[in-house]
Amino acid sequence: MKGGATPLLRTRTCNRVLWPAREVFVLKTEILHININAIEKDKLSYAAEVIKGGGLVAFPTETVYGLGANALDTKAVQGIFNAKGRPSDNPLIVHIAEKSLLPELVRQTTETARRAMDAFWPGPLTLVMDKSEKVPGIITAGLDTVAVRMPVHPVALALIREAGLPIAAPSANTSGRPSPTTAKHVIEDLFGKVDVILDGGNANVGLESTVLDVTVNPPMILRPGGVTAEQLEGILGPVNIDPAVIKMKSENITPKSPGMKYTHYSPKAEVIVVEGSLEKVVERIKNFVEEYKSKGTQMGILATDQTRRYYSGAEVISAGDRNHPETIASNLFGALREFDERGVQVVLAEAVEVKGIGMAVMNRMNKAAGYNIVKVD
Ligand code: TXA
Ligand code: MG
Repeated sequence: MKGGATPLLRTRTCNRVLWPAREVFVLKTEILHININAIEKDKLSYAAEVIKGGGLVAFPTETVYGLGANALDTKAVQGIFNAKGRPSDNPLIVHIAEKSLLPELVRQTTETARRAMDAFWPGPLTLVMDKSEKVPGIITAGLDTVAVRMPVHPVALALIREAGLPIAAPSANTSGRPSPTTAKHVIEDLFGKVDVILDGGNANVGLESTVLDVTVNPPMILRPGGVTAEQLEGILGPVNIDPAVIKMKSENITPKSPGMKYTHYSPKAEVIVVEGSLEKVVERIKNFVEEYKSKGTQMGILATDQTRRYYSGAEVISAGDRNHPETIASNLFGALREFDERGVQVVLAEAVEVKGIGMAVMNRMNKAAGYNIVKVD
Protein backbone atom coordinates (compact mmCIF):
# COMPACT_ATOMS: atom_id res chain seq x y z
CA MET A 1 0.00 0.00 0.00
CA LYS A 2 1.24 3.47 -0.82
CA GLY A 3 0.50 6.33 1.59
CA GLY A 4 -2.69 8.36 1.25
CA ALA A 5 -6.18 8.21 2.61
CA THR A 6 -8.07 5.45 0.81
CA PRO A 7 -5.68 3.38 -1.24
CA LEU A 8 -6.96 1.93 -4.46
CA LEU A 9 -7.31 -1.79 -4.17
CA ARG A 10 -5.85 -3.93 -6.84
CA THR A 11 -8.29 -6.61 -7.81
CA ARG A 12 -7.36 -9.99 -6.42
CA THR A 13 -6.84 -11.42 -9.87
CA CYS A 14 -4.37 -8.66 -10.74
CA ASN A 15 -2.66 -9.34 -7.45
CA ARG A 16 -1.71 -12.82 -8.60
CA VAL A 17 1.21 -13.68 -10.78
CA LEU A 18 1.78 -17.03 -12.37
CA TRP A 19 4.68 -19.09 -11.08
CA PRO A 20 5.50 -20.85 -14.32
CA ALA A 21 7.55 -23.81 -13.16
CA ARG A 22 5.08 -25.12 -10.63
CA GLU A 23 1.90 -23.63 -12.08
CA VAL A 24 0.74 -22.27 -8.74
CA PHE A 25 -0.46 -18.76 -8.08
CA VAL A 26 1.70 -16.58 -5.91
CA LEU A 27 0.19 -13.58 -4.16
CA LYS A 28 1.89 -10.26 -3.75
CA THR A 29 1.96 -10.01 0.03
CA GLU A 30 1.96 -6.57 1.62
CA ILE A 31 3.46 -6.17 5.07
CA LEU A 32 2.00 -3.25 7.00
CA HIS A 33 3.48 -2.20 10.34
CA ILE A 34 0.73 -1.07 12.61
CA ASN A 35 1.00 0.91 15.83
CA ILE A 36 -1.11 -0.95 18.36
CA ASN A 37 -1.40 2.14 20.58
CA ALA A 38 -2.47 4.46 17.77
CA ILE A 39 -3.76 2.28 14.96
CA GLU A 40 -3.29 4.00 11.58
CA LYS A 41 -6.75 4.40 10.08
CA ASP A 42 -5.61 4.09 6.46
CA LYS A 43 -3.83 0.79 7.07
CA LEU A 44 -6.77 -0.58 9.00
CA SER A 45 -9.33 0.35 6.37
CA TYR A 46 -7.09 -1.09 3.65
CA ALA A 47 -6.86 -4.43 5.48
CA ALA A 48 -10.63 -4.39 6.12
CA GLU A 49 -11.27 -3.77 2.39
CA VAL A 50 -9.10 -6.77 1.53
CA ILE A 51 -11.16 -8.94 3.90
CA LYS A 52 -14.43 -7.58 2.46
CA GLY A 53 -13.13 -8.26 -1.06
CA GLY A 54 -12.57 -11.95 -0.27
CA GLY A 55 -8.84 -11.67 0.49
CA LEU A 56 -6.60 -13.00 3.25
CA VAL A 57 -5.17 -10.82 6.03
CA ALA A 58 -2.84 -12.08 8.77
CA PHE A 59 -3.23 -10.05 11.94
CA PRO A 60 -2.02 -10.07 15.55
CA THR A 61 -4.20 -11.33 18.39
CA GLU A 62 -3.29 -11.59 22.07
CA THR A 63 -2.71 -15.36 21.67
CA VAL A 64 -0.98 -15.92 18.31
CA TYR A 65 -1.23 -14.33 14.85
CA GLY A 66 -4.38 -15.30 12.96
CA LEU A 67 -5.00 -15.71 9.22
CA GLY A 68 -8.31 -13.97 8.58
CA ALA A 69 -10.98 -14.10 5.88
CA ASN A 70 -14.68 -13.25 5.71
CA ALA A 71 -16.29 -16.13 7.63
CA LEU A 72 -19.46 -15.93 5.56
CA ASP A 73 -17.66 -16.23 2.20
CA THR A 74 -16.95 -19.88 1.38
CA LYS A 75 -14.48 -19.06 -1.37
CA ALA A 76 -12.48 -16.72 0.85
CA VAL A 77 -12.42 -19.33 3.61
CA GLN A 78 -11.20 -21.95 1.14
CA GLY A 79 -8.25 -19.59 0.57
CA ILE A 80 -7.28 -20.00 4.24
CA PHE A 81 -7.18 -23.79 3.91
CA ASN A 82 -5.10 -23.50 0.72
CA ALA A 83 -2.60 -21.00 2.15
CA LYS A 84 -2.01 -23.06 5.28
CA GLY A 85 -2.19 -26.49 3.66
CA ARG A 86 -4.80 -27.25 6.31
CA PRO A 87 -6.83 -30.49 6.20
CA SER A 88 -10.44 -29.68 5.32
CA ASP A 89 -11.79 -31.69 8.28
CA ASN A 90 -10.29 -29.22 10.76
CA PRO A 91 -12.85 -26.49 11.56
CA LEU A 92 -12.02 -22.80 12.02
CA ILE A 93 -12.73 -20.31 14.80
CA VAL A 94 -15.00 -17.38 13.93
CA HIS A 95 -13.84 -14.08 15.48
CA ILE A 96 -16.28 -11.33 16.43
CA ALA A 97 -15.94 -7.91 18.03
CA GLU A 98 -19.51 -7.47 19.34
CA LYS A 99 -21.81 -9.95 21.04
CA SER A 100 -24.62 -8.59 18.87
CA LEU A 101 -23.22 -10.68 15.99
CA LEU A 102 -23.78 -13.93 17.89
CA PRO A 103 -27.41 -14.58 16.89
CA GLU A 104 -26.23 -14.69 13.28
CA LEU A 105 -23.77 -17.46 14.08
CA VAL A 106 -25.30 -19.64 16.79
CA ARG A 107 -28.72 -21.20 17.41
CA GLN A 108 -28.82 -20.18 21.06
CA THR A 109 -26.66 -18.71 23.80
CA THR A 110 -26.92 -20.90 26.88
CA GLU A 111 -26.60 -19.61 30.44
CA THR A 112 -23.13 -21.23 30.71
CA ALA A 113 -22.03 -19.56 27.49
CA ARG A 114 -23.30 -16.20 28.72
CA ARG A 115 -21.40 -16.48 32.00
CA ALA A 116 -18.21 -17.53 30.23
CA MET A 117 -18.50 -14.57 27.82
CA ASP A 118 -19.19 -12.08 30.59
CA ALA A 119 -16.10 -13.24 32.48
CA PHE A 120 -13.58 -13.84 29.69
CA TRP A 121 -14.59 -11.92 26.56
CA PRO A 122 -12.88 -10.18 25.01
CA GLY A 123 -9.99 -12.59 25.64
CA PRO A 124 -8.35 -15.94 24.89
CA LEU A 125 -11.46 -18.12 25.25
CA THR A 126 -13.22 -19.83 22.31
CA LEU A 127 -16.72 -21.20 22.86
CA VAL A 128 -18.09 -24.13 20.88
CA MET A 129 -21.84 -23.62 20.40
CA ASP A 130 -24.64 -24.98 18.21
CA LYS A 131 -24.24 -23.37 14.79
CA SER A 132 -26.85 -21.38 12.89
CA GLU A 133 -27.84 -22.10 9.29
CA LYS A 134 -25.87 -19.08 8.15
CA VAL A 135 -22.44 -20.45 9.06
CA PRO A 136 -20.95 -22.13 5.96
CA GLY A 137 -20.12 -25.84 6.27
CA ILE A 138 -16.51 -25.14 5.28
CA ILE A 139 -16.00 -23.26 8.57
CA THR A 140 -17.27 -26.07 10.78
CA ALA A 141 -15.97 -28.98 8.67
CA GLY A 142 -19.54 -30.24 8.56
CA LEU A 143 -20.06 -30.25 12.37
CA ASP A 144 -23.30 -28.96 13.94
CA THR A 145 -21.27 -26.68 16.18
CA VAL A 146 -19.26 -23.53 15.57
CA ALA A 147 -16.32 -22.16 17.55
CA VAL A 148 -16.57 -18.42 18.33
CA ARG A 149 -14.11 -16.09 20.00
CA MET A 150 -13.85 -12.37 20.78
CA PRO A 151 -10.15 -11.45 20.93
CA VAL A 152 -8.92 -8.63 23.16
CA HIS A 153 -6.01 -7.45 20.98
CA PRO A 154 -6.74 -3.88 19.81
CA VAL A 155 -5.73 -4.58 16.19
CA ALA A 156 -7.83 -7.74 15.98
CA LEU A 157 -10.87 -5.98 17.44
CA ALA A 158 -10.42 -2.92 15.24
CA LEU A 159 -10.04 -5.02 12.09
CA ILE A 160 -13.18 -7.06 12.78
CA ARG A 161 -15.16 -3.86 13.53
CA GLU A 162 -13.86 -2.07 10.45
CA ALA A 163 -14.65 -5.03 8.19
CA GLY A 164 -18.10 -5.28 9.80
CA LEU A 165 -18.00 -9.06 9.39
CA PRO A 166 -17.24 -12.15 11.43
CA ILE A 167 -13.67 -13.16 10.58
CA ALA A 168 -12.62 -16.81 10.34
CA ALA A 169 -9.04 -17.13 11.54
CA PRO A 170 -6.86 -20.09 12.33
CA SER A 171 -3.31 -19.53 13.53
CA ALA A 172 -1.29 -17.96 10.70
CA ASN A 173 1.24 -20.76 10.27
CA THR A 174 1.72 -23.52 7.73
CA SER A 175 -0.29 -26.46 9.08
CA GLY A 176 1.79 -28.51 11.49
CA ARG A 177 4.40 -25.83 12.27
CA PRO A 178 4.59 -23.92 15.57
CA SER A 179 1.98 -21.14 15.69
CA PRO A 180 3.30 -17.64 14.92
CA THR A 181 3.80 -15.18 17.75
CA THR A 182 5.46 -12.48 15.60
CA ALA A 183 4.94 -11.14 12.09
CA LYS A 184 8.36 -12.59 11.20
CA HIS A 185 7.00 -16.09 11.88
CA VAL A 186 4.00 -15.36 9.64
CA ILE A 187 6.31 -14.11 6.88
CA GLU A 188 8.38 -17.32 7.14
CA ASP A 189 5.31 -19.47 6.54
CA LEU A 190 2.86 -17.43 4.45
CA PHE A 191 4.71 -14.80 2.42
CA GLY A 192 3.43 -15.08 -1.16
CA LYS A 193 0.31 -16.90 0.01
CA VAL A 194 -1.71 -14.09 1.64
CA ASP A 195 -2.62 -10.54 0.63
CA VAL A 196 -1.67 -8.58 3.74
CA ILE A 197 0.30 -9.20 6.93
CA LEU A 198 -0.39 -6.67 9.69
CA ASP A 199 2.71 -6.46 11.88
CA GLY A 200 1.63 -5.46 15.38
CA GLY A 201 4.58 -6.84 17.36
CA ASN A 202 4.53 -9.81 19.71
CA ALA A 203 1.44 -11.84 20.52
CA ASN A 204 1.78 -11.82 24.29
CA VAL A 205 0.00 -14.94 25.55
CA GLY A 206 2.01 -16.95 23.01
CA LEU A 207 -0.32 -19.98 22.98
CA GLU A 208 -3.74 -20.23 21.39
CA SER A 209 -7.09 -19.65 23.08
CA THR A 210 -8.75 -22.23 25.29
CA VAL A 211 -11.46 -24.08 23.34
CA LEU A 212 -14.44 -24.79 25.61
CA ASP A 213 -17.43 -26.84 24.50
CA VAL A 214 -20.49 -25.27 26.14
CA THR A 215 -22.98 -27.54 24.37
CA VAL A 216 -22.37 -30.17 27.07
CA ASN A 217 -22.90 -30.10 30.81
CA PRO A 218 -20.52 -29.70 32.53
CA PRO A 219 -18.66 -27.77 29.85
CA MET A 220 -15.53 -29.46 28.45
CA ILE A 221 -12.10 -28.07 27.60
CA LEU A 222 -11.21 -29.40 24.15
CA ARG A 223 -7.94 -27.46 23.93
CA PRO A 224 -6.19 -25.86 26.94
CA GLY A 225 -5.02 -22.30 26.27
CA GLY A 226 -4.85 -18.72 27.45
CA VAL A 227 -7.71 -19.04 29.98
CA THR A 228 -6.85 -21.75 32.52
CA ALA A 229 -9.07 -24.59 33.79
CA GLU A 230 -8.81 -23.05 37.26
CA GLN A 231 -10.07 -19.68 35.98
CA LEU A 232 -12.99 -21.34 34.17
CA GLU A 233 -13.96 -23.38 37.23
CA GLY A 234 -13.89 -20.21 39.33
CA ILE A 235 -16.72 -18.83 37.19
CA LEU A 236 -18.55 -21.88 35.81
CA GLY A 237 -18.09 -24.53 38.51
CA PRO A 238 -16.85 -28.00 37.51
CA VAL A 239 -15.36 -28.20 34.01
CA ASN A 240 -14.33 -31.46 32.31
CA ILE A 241 -11.17 -31.81 30.29
CA ASP A 242 -11.16 -33.88 27.12
CA PRO A 243 -8.96 -36.87 28.06
CA ALA A 244 -7.10 -36.42 24.77
CA VAL A 245 -5.65 -33.16 26.12
CA ILE A 246 -3.49 -34.82 28.74
CA LYS A 247 -3.29 -38.49 27.83
CA MET A 248 -0.71 -40.06 25.55
CA LYS A 249 -1.23 -40.52 21.84
CA SER A 250 -0.45 -44.22 22.31
CA GLU A 251 -3.54 -44.57 24.50
CA ASN A 252 -5.55 -44.33 21.31
CA ILE A 253 -8.00 -41.66 22.36
CA THR A 254 -9.81 -39.67 19.69
CA PRO A 255 -9.98 -36.00 20.65
CA LYS A 256 -13.33 -34.21 20.40
CA SER A 257 -11.75 -31.20 18.75
CA PRO A 258 -10.71 -32.27 15.24
CA GLY A 259 -7.58 -30.10 15.23
CA MET A 260 -6.19 -31.82 18.29
CA LYS A 261 -5.60 -35.09 16.48
CA TYR A 262 -2.96 -33.72 14.13
CA THR A 263 0.76 -33.63 14.79
CA HIS A 264 1.31 -30.02 15.48
CA TYR A 265 3.64 -27.27 16.53
CA SER A 266 6.57 -29.25 15.16
CA PRO A 267 9.89 -27.67 14.44
CA LYS A 268 12.10 -29.46 11.93
CA ALA A 269 14.17 -30.80 14.80
CA GLU A 270 13.12 -33.91 16.67
CA VAL A 271 11.80 -32.92 20.11
CA ILE A 272 12.14 -35.07 23.24
CA VAL A 273 10.33 -33.98 26.40
CA VAL A 274 12.00 -34.95 29.67
CA GLU A 275 9.63 -35.12 32.60
CA GLY A 276 10.14 -35.70 36.34
CA SER A 277 11.71 -34.00 39.35
CA LEU A 278 13.79 -31.04 38.19
CA GLU A 279 17.09 -32.41 39.47
CA LYS A 280 16.63 -35.71 37.62
CA VAL A 281 15.43 -33.93 34.47
CA VAL A 282 18.62 -31.85 34.36
CA GLU A 283 20.76 -34.94 34.95
CA ARG A 284 19.01 -36.91 32.18
CA ILE A 285 19.32 -34.04 29.70
CA LYS A 286 23.05 -33.75 30.44
CA ASN A 287 23.41 -37.49 29.81
CA PHE A 288 21.48 -37.16 26.54
CA VAL A 289 23.82 -34.36 25.43
CA GLU A 290 26.85 -36.60 26.04
CA GLU A 291 25.26 -39.53 24.19
CA TYR A 292 24.23 -37.47 21.15
CA LYS A 293 27.45 -35.47 21.05
CA SER A 294 29.41 -38.63 20.39
CA LYS A 295 27.21 -39.18 17.32
CA GLY A 296 27.84 -35.63 16.07
CA THR A 297 24.19 -34.53 16.48
CA GLN A 298 23.48 -30.79 16.81
CA MET A 299 21.70 -30.52 20.14
CA GLY A 300 19.32 -27.93 21.52
CA ILE A 301 18.04 -27.64 25.08
CA LEU A 302 14.80 -25.91 25.95
CA ALA A 303 15.66 -24.95 29.52
CA THR A 304 14.21 -22.50 32.02
CA ASP A 305 15.73 -19.51 33.82
CA GLN A 306 16.28 -21.77 36.83
CA THR A 307 18.28 -24.40 34.92
CA ARG A 308 20.01 -22.88 31.90
CA ARG A 309 23.33 -22.45 33.72
CA TYR A 310 23.64 -26.20 34.26
CA TYR A 311 23.98 -26.96 30.55
CA SER A 312 26.80 -26.72 28.03
CA GLY A 313 27.78 -28.35 24.75
CA ALA A 314 24.41 -27.54 23.14
CA GLU A 315 22.30 -24.59 21.95
CA VAL A 316 20.53 -23.59 25.16
CA ILE A 317 17.40 -21.41 25.10
CA SER A 318 15.49 -20.54 28.24
CA ALA A 319 11.74 -20.67 27.66
CA GLY A 320 11.18 -18.53 30.75
CA ASP A 321 10.75 -18.55 34.50
CA ARG A 322 9.28 -21.66 36.18
CA ASN A 323 7.75 -19.44 38.86
CA HIS A 324 5.93 -17.48 36.13
CA PRO A 325 4.79 -20.16 33.65
CA GLU A 326 3.03 -17.50 31.56
CA THR A 327 6.54 -16.43 30.45
CA ILE A 328 7.16 -19.99 29.20
CA ALA A 329 3.83 -19.96 27.34
CA SER A 330 4.80 -16.68 25.75
CA ASN A 331 8.20 -17.92 24.48
CA LEU A 332 7.56 -21.57 23.63
CA PHE A 333 6.68 -21.35 19.92
CA GLY A 334 9.33 -18.72 19.21
CA ALA A 335 11.95 -20.91 20.89
CA LEU A 336 10.97 -23.96 18.82
CA ARG A 337 11.36 -21.91 15.63
CA GLU A 338 14.66 -20.47 16.87
CA PHE A 339 16.12 -23.97 17.27
CA ASP A 340 15.39 -24.59 13.59
CA GLU A 341 17.16 -21.37 12.67
CA ARG A 342 20.20 -22.51 14.62
CA GLY A 343 20.25 -25.79 12.69
CA VAL A 344 19.59 -27.95 15.73
CA GLN A 345 18.65 -31.57 14.99
CA VAL A 346 17.37 -32.73 18.39
CA VAL A 347 15.72 -30.55 21.06
CA LEU A 348 15.61 -31.77 24.66
CA ALA A 349 12.78 -29.94 26.41
CA GLU A 350 12.27 -29.71 30.17
CA ALA A 351 8.66 -30.42 31.12
CA VAL A 352 6.86 -27.94 33.39
CA GLU A 353 4.12 -28.48 35.96
CA VAL A 354 0.68 -29.27 34.45
CA LYS A 355 -1.04 -26.52 36.43
CA GLY A 356 -2.58 -23.21 35.35
CA ILE A 357 -1.23 -22.19 31.95
CA GLY A 358 1.26 -25.08 32.39
CA MET A 359 -1.46 -27.44 31.09
CA ALA A 360 -1.50 -25.64 27.75
CA VAL A 361 2.31 -25.48 27.67
CA MET A 362 2.62 -29.23 28.20
CA ASN A 363 -0.14 -29.99 25.70
CA ARG A 364 1.78 -28.07 22.99
CA MET A 365 5.20 -29.39 24.05
CA ASN A 366 4.04 -33.03 24.03
CA LYS A 367 2.48 -32.54 20.60
CA ALA A 368 5.62 -30.85 19.27
CA ALA A 369 7.48 -33.95 20.49
CA GLY A 370 4.98 -36.29 18.80
CA TYR A 371 4.49 -37.62 22.38
CA ASN A 372 8.16 -38.62 22.58
CA ILE A 373 8.31 -38.23 26.36
CA VAL A 374 11.01 -39.59 28.66
CA LYS A 375 10.02 -39.94 32.34
CA VAL A 376 12.81 -39.92 34.87
CA ASP A 377 11.25 -40.70 38.24
O1 TXA B 1 -6.00 -18.29 19.83
C1 TXA B 1 -6.59 -18.81 18.89
O2 TXA B 1 -7.59 -19.53 19.06
C2 TXA B 1 -6.05 -18.57 17.49
C3 TXA B 1 -6.23 -17.07 17.18
C4 TXA B 1 -5.84 -16.73 15.77
O3 TXA B 1 -7.53 -16.68 17.48
N1 TXA B 1 -6.72 -19.38 16.53
C5 TXA B 1 -6.51 -20.72 16.46
O4 TXA B 1 -7.19 -21.35 15.45
O5 TXA B 1 -5.77 -21.33 17.21
P1 TXA B 1 -6.80 -22.80 14.93
O6 TXA B 1 -7.60 -23.01 13.71
O7 TXA B 1 -5.33 -22.90 14.79
O8 TXA B 1 -7.34 -23.76 16.03
C6 TXA B 1 -8.75 -23.94 16.20
C7 TXA B 1 -9.01 -25.15 17.04
C8 TXA B 1 -8.72 -26.41 16.29
O9 TXA B 1 -8.16 -27.36 17.19
C9 TXA B 1 -10.12 -26.83 15.82
O10 TXA B 1 -10.22 -28.22 15.60
C10 TXA B 1 -10.97 -26.38 16.98
O11 TXA B 1 -10.41 -25.14 17.36
N2 TXA B 1 -12.37 -26.18 16.58
C11 TXA B 1 -12.88 -25.28 15.72
N3 TXA B 1 -14.21 -25.43 15.57
C12 TXA B 1 -14.57 -26.45 16.38
C13 TXA B 1 -15.80 -27.10 16.68
N4 TXA B 1 -16.93 -26.72 16.11
N5 TXA B 1 -15.78 -28.13 17.56
C14 TXA B 1 -14.63 -28.51 18.15
N6 TXA B 1 -13.42 -27.94 17.90
C15 TXA B 1 -13.39 -26.94 17.03
MG1 MG C 1 -3.43 -23.69 14.71
